[in-house]
Amino acid sequence: MIQIREATLEDIPFITSIFRDTITHVNSKHYSEKQIKVWASGASEIEKWEERIKNSYFIVAELNETIVGFAYLSNGNCFDGLFIHKDYLRRGFGTKLMRIIESKAISTGYEIIKSDVSITALPLFENQYYIVERKQKKNYKGLSFENYIVYKEL
Ligand SMILES: CC(C)(COP(=O)(O)OP(=O)(O)OC[C@H]1O[C@@H](n2cnc3c(N)ncnc32)[C@H](O)[C@@H]1OP(=O)(O)O)[C@@H](O)C(=O)NCCC(=O)NCCS
Repeated sequence: MIQIREATLEDIPFITSIFRDTITHVNSKHYSEKQIKVWASGASEIEKWEERIKNSYFIVAELNETIVGFAYLSNGNCFDGLFIHKDYLRRGFGTKLMRIIESKAISTGYEIIKSDVSITALPLFENQYYIVERKQKKNYKGLSFENYIVYKEL
């Protein structure tokens, strides 16, 4: 059974390892080697992960006490991150985390949730009725990344 709970600072090594591995093995289908290297390097920015856990609604999905994915919501209705371990894809875990993130935004009083989603994650968001506002090129550490600005009415 998958269990969802709020993240703690002790989870950071597991969260950053999933972040690095998922980008390297899953997002690599849609982004260049250079983009993947730069994006995955965000795993080492421990202070930023600490800030995210402290200041966002940050949840992890556990299967048999092993973290297999995570998601976080910033500023009340910005769905800023959703990552599932490469060995646990297409089992509904991404959708489950998404539902809990959306419920949090609803319970805080928001009627719209928004996100910037990767090319890789777009099929999941479209499957869950998010609308693409536009495609954009986002600058990260000097490289341009194509992704999509999406939103959903809650
Ligand atoms: C996007 C991601 C979170 C999806 O997680 P997941 O647990 O595999 O998603 P789910 O099992 O809940 O998928 C639900 C539905 O979304 C769609 N979907 C999900 N991944 C898909 C893919 N790679 N291709 C096509 N459709 C996909 C399907 O309709 C799927 O239903 P199905 O499996 O019954 O066909 C995962 O692929 C991931 O971590 N990707 C890399 C990280 C990333 O880009 N995150 C977003 C950063 S902005």
